[in-house]
Amino acid sequence: MTTPKALVAGNWKMNGLKAAIGEITRLNDLISTSGANCDVLICPPFTLISTLVGMGAKNVPIGAQDCHMNVSGAHTGDISAQMVAELGCGHIIVGHSERRADHGESNDTVKAKAAAAQAAGTNAIICVGETIDEREAGSTIDVVRAQVKGSIPDDARADNTTIAYEPVWAIGTGKVPTAADVEEVHREVRALLMDRFGEAGSGVRILYGGSVKASNAEELMSVPNVNGALVGGASLKADDFYGIISAYDKIG
Ligand code: PGA
Repeated sequence: MTTPKALVAGNWKMNGLKAAIGEITRLNDLISTSGANCDVLICPPFTLISTLVGMGAKNVPIGAQDCHMNVSGAHTGDISAQMVAELGCGHIIVGHSERRADHGESNDTVKAKAAAAQAAGTNAIICVGETIDEREAGSTIDVVRAQVKGSIPDDARADNTTIAYEPVWAIGTGKVPTAADVEEVHREVRALLMDRFGEAGSGVRILYGGSVKASNAEELMSVPNVNGALVGGASLKADDFYGIISAYDKIG
């Protein structure tokens, strides 16, 4: 059994003008000075990727929030995985619930995007999670199972796959599931990964996302099979985000 090194990943969503660049400098300095007992990633909007990678902030790798499923072609306004990989992104988020909802992305679409991300040599962070109606109907596990099974590409490998469990009702709301609820879902996802990848499935990171902040990070990140966080709002300010990273100073 391999326990993956934790990853605390920030998803800036559609936030970040040039003024936000200073947050990366600040985060890089905080990690240089005080350290990080986990891996770190920031996924800014596409418009900032080149600038942020170019800054060479060695403690803050940069990823992308989405990619098109094709390598190139007539897809106005879209960005391919190869394009962001060429800029230096090592991770691409796919299937975030906001994209599943706002852009009608199905599991098949997410699977194709994850395949594109992996073909470009990046690690696909595949997001899954139930809506409040699905949770209240008692179908959380069924929904997450179907999303995990339906969204992992056929030729994915354990070492280029990450799963992010993000209950839709916990995103940006300040509501979080209980540790027991998180544990149940992550245990199920781990079992699916072991089925799928064999022993190597133990090394795939399963991130938790949804209203993670410094004050709840230690509790959430201590849950078995939680190998890090995907953080929205609390990733926008370096000091807030570093508060989540430093939860790993207290977790064995
Ligand atoms: P939040 O967003 O931390 O603002 O809840 C998490 C996410 O959507 O990845």
